[in-house]
Amino acid sequence: MFEDSIVPATLIIIGLSLNLVLILNLVKTQKKLITQQHDFQDEVKKSFQSSTQLFNAELKRVSEVSVTQIESLFSIFSTLKPQLPLPTTRGWAASPDLLKEIISLIHRQKPQLVVEASSGVSTLIIAYCLQRLGTGKLISLEHESKFAQATQSHLSLHGLDDVATVIYAPLVEVEINGAKWLWYDLTKVKIPEAIDLLIVDGPPGTTQKLARYPAVPMLHEKLSKDAMVMLDDGARADERRIVEQWMAEFKMSHSEYLPLEKGAYLIQM
Ligand SMILES: C[S@@+](CC[C@H](N)C(=O)[O-])C[C@H]1O[C@@H](n2cnc3c(N)ncnc32)[C@H](O)[C@@H]1O
Repeated sequence: MFEDSIVPATLIIIGLSLNLVLILNLVKTQKKLITQQHDFQDEVKKSFQSSTQLFNAELKRVSEVSVTQIESLFSIFSTLKPQLPLPTTRGWAASPDLLKEIISLIHRQKPQLVVEASSGVSTLIIAYCLQRLGTGKLISLEHESKFAQATQSHLSLHGLDDVATVIYAPLVEVEINGAKWLWYDLTKVKIPEAIDLLIVDGPPGTTQKLARYPAVPMLHEKLSKDAMVMLDDGARADERRIVEQWMAEFKMSHSEYLPLEKGAYLIQM
């Protein structure tokens, strides 16, 4: 009788133990899941906070850039008073903050000859400056025929033909210290006097590695002894290297980085 009741009691104990183990496992799993859920929530919260911080920083940067560009445009228009609308700035063209720097530089330096590598809105701005000063000429080199024509016709419409000329100079292979480069074809370009200001904003960076390096080697002999060189897109690694090479190879006396929208370098011979 006693033995008869042992078997079911043992089975009940085993069953209860199994249930207990199952319940303990379930509790353990649930705890683990809750911890994982909290970790996940923390991760989501952290990543949301850091992307919000990045977004706010970028928003602040973009609004500061926009304000600077608008202020620069006001300065440009109030100084030069263009007679007609100007081509758009930024993107492929120079940004207003650089154009404003160029205007200040030309008024300080009063160059007799400005040479510019690549034409566009900058050509009109430089030409307006020289016209306003009543002295100095601009030669703008342009490798694309349609843009050379477009800029030349803008110059005519703005009454700036007397001050500035766009020369269509396709890119050709040139040799500098035994290495091959692409640069504006200067064979038909007559540079009548020493260049006081060289503005380098072409050819496009996609043309070749260190695309604008040839500017100084190709025109060095034509630069006046106090010439200044302005190089756009100074925030790019290529432009930084180009300036280092120019400084070393041509013993230029001083270079200054201008923290503009695209960055620029102003270099003194
Ligand atoms: C870096 S952009 C600079 C042009 C110029 N220095 C300026 O700031 O206006 C260089 C090249 O853009 C090209 N370009 C000129 N006008 C353009 C336009 N409306 N759309 C696209 N590219 C243009 C020209 O071939 C020019 O040599």
